[in-house]
Amino acid sequence: MPLTGLESKDLKMIIFGGKGGVGKTSCAVACAIGLAEHFKTLVISTDPAHSVSDSLEQEIGFRLQPVHNVPNLTAIEISADKAFKEFKKEHEAELIKLFDTSTNFDDEDIQQMMSLSIPGIDEVMSFKTIIDLIEEDNYEKYVVDTAPTGHALRLLSSPILLDEWIKMAAKMRWKYRYMIESFSGEYKDDEADVMLLNLKKTVKRIAALLSNSEKCEFIPVCIPEDMAIMETDRLLKELRSFKITSRQLILNNVMESDESGFCRQRKAAQLKYVEKVHKLFKELQVVMVPQFPDEIKGVMALRKLQQVLFGENIKRKTEIQHES
Ligand SMILES: Nc1ncnc2c1ncn2[C@@H]1O[C@H](COP(=O)(O)OP(=O)(O)OP(=O)(O)O)[C@@H](O)[C@H]1O
Ligand SMILES: [Mg+2]
Repeated sequence: MPLTGLESKDLKMIIFGGKGGVGKTSCAVACAIGLAEHFKTLVISTDPAHSVSDSLEQEIGFRLQPVHNVPNLTAIEISADKAFKEFKKEHEAELIKLFDTSTNFDDEDIQQMMSLSIPGIDEVMSFKTIIDLIEEDNYEKYVVDTAPTGHALRLLSSPILLDEWIKMAAKMRWKYRYMIESFSGEYKDDEADVMLLNLKKTVKRIAALLSNSEKCEFIPVCIPEDMAIMETDRLLKELRSFKITSRQLILNNVMESDESGFCRQRKAAQLKYVEKVHKLFKELQVVMVPQFPDEIKGVMALRKLQQVLFGENIKRKTEIQHES
């Protein structure tokens, strides 16, 4: 059974995630190559390891880069660390004002606060980059590759974390506001209020996109091994708590060959886990991907994976393109 529903007009963002090394990047990039046959597609790497460059055998970096030999496909790498540094640089004055007016901090305390991270903000800022790209509306599909589970969950839970911080900062501001109003009779929003309000808007935009099942879908990638299955189970539970939709799961590295004793043994060992995946995730459609004899690197190899992911329709179209 191939991936389904990704061509739906409303579906904008498709996020791939799962345990380390299970094939997230390969599947995300192959899926993006497949979608690019019909849609203007952007593949976004949020993994600090940025293996999208390695997978495509093309240096991508922090700018939009057309992918060589794949018409309609662009790629970009995003760094949470870089996005937060830029945010801090741009809003240094507002942050200092916020700490200065909302607390009893002296200059040294404020400098210390400035050097600390704000919970969730790095990831929110990298998500803001994604959401800004989606709202610019230059592409029809946005495929997101994530780092292994823990990092992906940090990214997806970042709006909740940052929202808590904003609430706390706003509470401190209300005290300050009350004081000003008591003394001078009126209070006008200053730049720190505007920054908090804008952060709140960003958090809301991200949460709204993530929880919109028509616009956003998360595709977990798993392999037929117990630890990967257990991690996928936990991941799916967390996703549900963030109201993020998953409709299908990729079961990668499934042994198909019977050619040698080793293959038969591997295949038999996998069988119970393949069954477990079907049973445990019965609400999801399972897309089985065989273990290829070689690693999946470069566009040619990724196209083979793309054909498995999308089935015959896209396969034929790809073959026609290759032949012409
Ligand atoms: N079906 C497959 N058959 C053969 N090799 C595969 C298959 N899927 C992935 N690989 C290979 O496995 C390795 C890991 O794949 P990939 O980088 O896509 O995993 P990942 O989940 O993104 O890893 P990370 O957690 O480090 O980001 C790569 O060398 C890739 O070529
Ligand atoms: Mg990866």
